[in-house]
Amino acid sequence: MNKKVFDELRTIVYENSGISLSDRKITLVSARINKRLRHLQLASHEDYLNYIKTDKTGEELVRFLNVISTNTTHFFREPVHFEVLASLIKKWASQGQRRFKIWCAAASSGEEPYTLAMTVLENVKGTNVDVKILATDISTEILAKAQAGVYQAETVNGIPKHLLSRYFTKIREGAGYYYQASDQLRGLITYRRLNLATPPFPMKGPFDVVFCRNVMIYFDNAVKKRLVDDIYRLLKPGGYLMIGHSESLTGLGTDFKSVQPAVYIKTK
Ligand SMILES: C[S@@+](CC[C@H](N)C(=O)[O-])C[C@H]1O[C@@H](n2cnc3c(N)ncnc32)[C@H](O)[C@@H]1O
Repeated sequence: MNKKVFDELRTIVYENSGISLSDRKITLVSARINKRLRHLQLASHEDYLNYIKTDKTGEELVRFLNVISTNTTHFFREPVHFEVLASLIKKWASQGQRRFKIWCAAASSGEEPYTLAMTVLENVKGTNVDVKILATDISTEILAKAQAGVYQAETVNGIPKHLLSRYFTKIREGAGYYYQASDQLRGLITYRRLNLATPPFPMKGPFDVVFCRNVMIYFDNAVKKRLVDDIYRLLKPGGYLMIGHSESLTGLGTDFKSVQPAVYIKTK
């Protein structure tokens, strides 16, 4: 791919997702769109660029963003956040709170929202509660996977055995096994496509907790600041924001107060 085509493609990516692609990403972008070139039977990256620019339906732009986004995730990733969530839920439930609203802002293939759902259910045991988890992502392809909630045996390795048997059903298909998230888990989660680079977001808060992990690494400070300020607006006073451990709010000038690494509270 030549530099001029790459520059135009990365401008499209930035304008439509907030994802900043450095010069080093040229090979990666090239490899990822080759799949689309084959599918559309286009001869060059330049043809693909023109295809996106002239596609009035906007559908190819969505597919382009699907292949550009990196979706790495796993169950109980960065487990300390689920320990913090468990103690918050227990505390709030003991104070009489019966409704819990959580937003999983970059849900990827669902491992994170299902982990959230299991953590909440395990910690409100025996109480009559209303739990709502909103799971959003920019990639329509990955959201469809999340919604299906079907995982290979290697993928569910990170789920403690007792939770796996309580919340997943083992399905035999051909020579292999799959695990399907239970209706109880799936019933707590609503999936929506949402671009985190375009606040203000249309959801109604307030949320008790927002998980926005391992997505801000792709954003520059201007996009991060807009995003974090809108998360702040949507949280309840005393609500929490969890970010990835390799991410930071330092230098953004937000109103969040740091509680411990990668955990923030809205104090007012
Ligand atoms: C590396 S995954 C992280 C998944 C999960 N939060 C975790 O920590 O395991 C990043 C996710 O962010 C999504 N993403 C990237 N840019 C986005 C944007 N502008 N709006 C919403 N989601 C975005 C990607 O599609 C991908 O699923």
